[in-house]
Amino acid sequence: MRCHLGPQEALSTARAFHAHSAGGNLPIGKKHRWNARNSDLRTPVEKTSPPNEQTLLKQIDPARVPVHVAITMDGNGRWAEQHGQERVTGHLHGVQPIRETLEAATEAGVKYLTLYAFSTENWSRPKAEVDALMELLVGTLAKEVDELDRNGVRLHTIGDTDSLPQGCRSALKKAMDRTAGNDRITLTLALSYSARWDILRMVRSIATDIRDGRLDTYAVNEELIDQRLSTRGLPDPDLLIRTSGEHRVSNFLLWEIAYAELWFTPVLWPDFHKEHFFQAILDYQRRERRFGLTREQLNPS
Ligand code: FPP
Repeated sequence: MRCHLGPQEALSTARAFHAHSAGGNLPIGKKHRWNARNSDLRTPVEKTSPPNEQTLLKQIDPARVPVHVAITMDGNGRWAEQHGQERVTGHLHGVQPIRETLEAATEAGVKYLTLYAFSTENWSRPKAEVDALMELLVGTLAKEVDELDRNGVRLHTIGDTDSLPQGCRSALKKAMDRTAGNDRITLTLALSYSARWDILRMVRSIATDIRDGRLDTYAVNEELIDQRLSTRGLPDPDLLIRTSGEHRVSNFLLWEIAYAELWFTPVLWPDFHKEHFFQAILDYQRRERRFGLTREQLNPS
């Protein structure tokens, strides 16, 4: 039966979830994984079908691992609906796959993982859902920051983070300051982000500099554009994953994914596991990236 939560109940559900999992907040540790998979909040999933995650990990060629993987984590709402739950519950169940994916990315040697956590368009969702997502972000950061730091994760954000509630901004700042010196993997959360928002900002900034005589039109090139986007400093994604069976880019990293390989899976985000991530990397490694060149140019005999 579908349960309907009002705004307050939705927030309480979010808080209850945090209280429930308070002891198992390790993104990379074994303890949490065991807890999470045995949690009564976790729906049993098809974890048994071979090949398993270790077999897949061993098949990955370490020399050709994508440096930057970006993910559109889609399907939380449909997952909740399929389980007769309110949408917020789908988001709550979307946290564990983030931990698992971060762990998988680190094991595979990925250096940058960028997650589409909240889009500019998501502000138009019902207030209760937006509030619950913000609360989830604050709670998750508070719980995970120690473990992120211990595991060499540098937390980073892209997007209009000034528009986030004060609590989110300070939790993010705290976590980013704390992890600033880490370099094993950079975890970027796209928050209040859309590629068109970013491109518009970039165009305005360049146009203003030209108008005020600080920049010559002919000095505008791809490098300058890279520098003026909120993704500056991040390499372009090599691989873009989208869950839930949708085959869309949805305003995510439009400039940056010019040559990214796209990988789609029908799996809903709360059901996404390491196996899926490793499978995506293996599929990526089977592809030939030509960057507009011919095969002969790439492989001269
Ligand atoms: C898309 O599913 C997902 C989101 C809009 C939010 C993503 C949030 C999480 C994975 C959990 C919390 C994240 C952090 C960083 C703590 P949808 O709601 O659009 O699903 P639907 O398409 O099935 O409706």
